[in-house]
Amino acid sequence: MNFRKLCVLGLGYIGLPTASTFAVNGLKVLGVDINPNVVETLQKGLIHIHEPGLRDIVTRAMQSGNFTVSTKPEKADAFLIAVPTPFKEHELGDYNGQKYKLADMSAVISATEAIVPYLRQGNLVILESTSPPRTTVDLVKPILERSGLKAGIDFYLCYSPERVLPGQILRELIENARVIGGVTFESAKAGRDLYATFVKGKIIETDATTAEMVKIMENTTRDVNIALANEFSHLAERFGVDIWEAISLANLHPRINILNPGPGVGGHCISVDPWFLVEAAPELTPMIYHARQVNDSQPHFVVEKLKQTFAAQGDFPADKNGGLSILNGKRIAALGLVYKPDVDDLRESPAAEIVHLLQEEGAQVKAWEPFKPDAKMNGIHMSADLDEAIHDADLLLLLVRHSEFAKLDPLELASKTKARLALDTVNAWEVDEWQKAGFRLLRLGVNKTPAANAA
Ligand SMILES: NC(=O)c1ccc[n+]([C@@H]2O[C@H](COP(=O)([O-])OP(=O)(O)OC[C@H]3O[C@@H](n4cnc5c(N)ncnc54)[C@H](O)[C@@H]3O)[C@@H](O)[C@H]2O)c1
Repeated sequence: MNFRKLCVLGLGYIGLPTASTFAVNGLKVLGVDINPNVVETLQKGLIHIHEPGLRDIVTRAMQSGNFTVSTKPEKADAFLIAVPTPFKEHELGDYNGQKYKLADMSAVISATEAIVPYLRQGNLVILESTSPPRTTVDLVKPILERSGLKAGIDFYLCYSPERVLPGQILRELIENARVIGGVTFESAKAGRDLYATFVKGKIIETDATTAEMVKIMENTTRDVNIALANEFSHLAERFGVDIWEAISLANLHPRINILNPGPGVGGHCISVDPWFLVEAAPELTPMIYHARQVNDSQPHFVVEKLKQTFAAQGDFPADKNGGLSILNGKRIAALGLVYKPDVDDLRESPAAEIVHLLQEEGAQVKAWEPFKPDAKMNGIHMSADLDEAIHDADLLLLLVRHSEFAKLDPLELASKTKARLALDTVNAWEVDEWQKAGFRLLRLGVNKTPAANAA
């Protein structure tokens, strides 16, 4: 099948790289976003998100004349939906008293509805947004069929999950294996023909619901495994063990691969998608539900650790601080606010939640996020640079393993901050080096003192 014109709905982390990659590979692409700022920014030749290489490919795509942007779709041979699928902010589901988050499918619904007036015989529609099982057949298909055309007969309909890693999106778009689930065999084949434009990885055809499950199972597997690592970090602190050492030793086993603990799980995918399964079948998902609970409570674990850290300093025990939290008045430099290293994505960030929790305890927090230096975060003091954040701090709190944070020289920092206490939640800093520079460095998941070693 020969697709010449493509309409991509949603120009975010997924839609923009995908649209521009199709365009530089010869398709005429109209990128559509309901956010006029996104469209204006792109029309000015700028981009609104940080992703290595993206600016270059978007510029090339636009200069080739193959890529244009608009707030409205147009007729095309194929439509690709890459709009957000977050959870609902103010509504929870309830299963026997267990509250769970609900998928907000409003963007998928409105993007699908926007296609209906332009849908023609022989068109292909692909949903890429991560979606609960059966979304393609139960939600998208009936909306598209309001056009009077039948899915699988008059037009092709597929679900194809996006599995790229932020930071490496442009390479992985091309190289990763791609699963294409059609509502019919012919639909999957049509999807294959479109992606074959640039995908060099294996392309595998299946049905739409299997393709949806594949994506959510992948993210849920990571979430559950991170929850296990986080729970191990709690046990390590209880039993005087260094979790990072223990994990590296356990992972020497040829069939064990324990993931890293950390300050929590965030982002648009791993902290969201497992809820789609809980919502779809709460009675079948107790483990997925509890893993979400563990990861969502990890910011509280970090705050507790900070309290213990100050208490161990002998500052003052919590109950001798006039009933106030031991964190009250403490000046904390929070290093990193995004949800993972070397990206600029603040969505569902556990680091931001930790800052809020600390502030609720009366701490004065200055945050520094080098990948979003100009971000306005509700109620969070965003420093202009690292020096401002650390200058008068009592404690340095490392929340994201950005490469530039891992490389920080503690000797140099010691001259720029009055803090002599640091908590590393991501195992980026060497205890010996920091000690030599005059810091007491604590790490998440570590409670291994010289005394404990001797014991
Ligand atoms: N970001 C990732 O790393 C990643 C990886 C795999 C899958 N996904 C999935 O891909 C989907 C998109 O994620 P993203 O990170 O690109 O989101 P994003 O928020 O970066 O971008 C989505 C864009 O869609 C626009 N939009 C919203 N409603 C629209 C509509 N009705 N019509 C046109 N545009 C609309 C928004 O304005 C926004 O610019 C989500 O389902 C996500 O779970 C994301």
